[in-house]
Amino acid sequence: MILVLDFGSQTTQLIARRVREQNVLAQIVRHDVSAERIRERNPRGLILSGGPSSVYDDSAPGIDPDILKLGIPVLGICYGMQICCQLLGETIQAADSGEFGRSPCQVETDSPLFRSVPETFTAWMSHGDQVGALSSDFQAIASTETCPNAAVRHVRLPIYGLQFHPEVTHTDFGGQVLKNFVRDICGCEGTWRIRSLIDRQIQEIRDRVGSDRVICGLSGGVDSSVVAALISQAIGDQLSCILVDNGLLRRGEREQVAEEFTKHFSTDLHVVDARRRFLDELRGVTDPQEKRKIIGRVFIDCFRDEAESIPNARFLAQGTLYPDVIESGASQDGPAETIKSHHNVGGLPEELGFELIEPLRDLFKDEVRQMGLELGLPEKLVWRHPFPGPGLAVRCLGEITEERLEIIREADAILVEELHQAGLYREVQQAFVVLLPVQSVGVMGDGRTYENVAAVRAVQTDDFMTADWFDFPHDVLRRISTRIINSVRGINRVVYDVSSKPPATIEWE
Ligand code: XMP
Repeated sequence: MILVLDFGSQTTQLIARRVREQNVLAQIVRHDVSAERIRERNPRGLILSGGPSSVYDDSAPGIDPDILKLGIPVLGICYGMQICCQLLGETIQAADSGEFGRSPCQVETDSPLFRSVPETFTAWMSHGDQVGALSSDFQAIASTETCPNAAVRHVRLPIYGLQFHPEVTHTDFGGQVLKNFVRDICGCEGTWRIRSLIDRQIQEIRDRVGSDRVICGLSGGVDSSVVAALISQAIGDQLSCILVDNGLLRRGEREQVAEEFTKHFSTDLHVVDARRRFLDELRGVTDPQEKRKIIGRVFIDCFRDEAESIPNARFLAQGTLYPDVIESGASQDGPAETIKSHHNVGGLPEELGFELIEPLRDLFKDEVRQMGLELGLPEKLVWRHPFPGPGLAVRCLGEITEERLEIIREADAILVEELHQAGLYREVQQAFVVLLPVQSVGVMGDGRTYENVAAVRAVQTDDFMTADWFDFPHDVLRRISTRIINSVRGINRVVYDVSSKPPATIEWE
């Protein structure tokens, strides 16, 4: 296992993911974790992330200096390199000119860190400070035109530093550099596998649950499906799943989930038909936050009522993922910053009184997908685009009525079908139709129409924090628009959303 010390870089999670791609478990911890605590956790290596500070700032985040005496190999990246070098007596200075973006990087000497890396490669730089002239304790092992110490190593200790970012894909051979560090320098064997995690989780769930019952809320999304599949493998029919049909689901969603979970798993599935109740409570509401609040409250009520009808239920299983754990500061040594997003609709409050089981707490989204496939979930479900807790309510701008929801469902199904047909569904991470609260004039046959406008949204994103609109092949876009206008009654105009996030968000509400 490798520990990644977080100094607040936007790419800290990416470092952990890249390490895991080498089949080595990586966990993110706070930068000020004590040397004692690190010794207890017994990692094979440490990676210090970059960060937005300068080591000379008054409030610059530091590390317990004893960490560098543990004898555990250390790789400092950008700020992480500077903080190590500073603690070991080197000087850090503002570079003559900052270096941002791609730079040709020259390997200066043989080093295990650059095994199988060509002599010159492109490195991604993003720094204003850099390590100054080196003492005899350090040796430069790579350089760029403006940064003579683009990579360094300590001459006696197993400490390495990179001024560039090996974790981003813009650095050619960045994956190789990280592989060299974790496999060759730290001696990790690369035996971490999703399958072994599944086996361990199954055993832990069995031990913990005993003969009690576990409840799991199903939403149709990949996370809750994987949780349910895993728990079902662990304890079989001691699992009860609850699917609340809030009337805001996509076409066929309720049926698909029900079929999947009754056909493949021996699950006690409770489908709560709350469509009427949600629609009644949402009648006349147009404010997005108000919609979210109502949906969150009614969902909890429905879930609680159903859960209370299930005897012996002691545990509640949830699909909390590693990024949620880190961002909420909930992991024991996790980073302190709370960057938690506003998305808590669909979450369940603690007052429900269950003990939580969160078997995905250590996993990133792509690993959850791998786990789903290992557990035998169909590709279609595993690769399904994420869907927000408040469902179609936040895609039905303005008032929500059954008629308007049905228009969205129909148009959305066409969009998804065309994406699949063009082989583009997995090229985009999220795509959907939004029904706008405006009507526009059109002409159909000899008659004038005055009907709804639908917006198509399709984005490419790594982490949903930033996103680019998808540059559709025009013929596909044309087919989507023609089919929607021709076959969805109530829509006479389709527009395509060409806004990136930021400043726009992915959803419209
Ligand atoms: P935004 O619109 O903030 O969305 O760019 C980022 C991602 O979050 C999803 N999203 C939500 N998910 N409850 C959820 O469970 C919500 O209230 C919510 N709002 C947005 C959105 O679909 C996208 O994947």
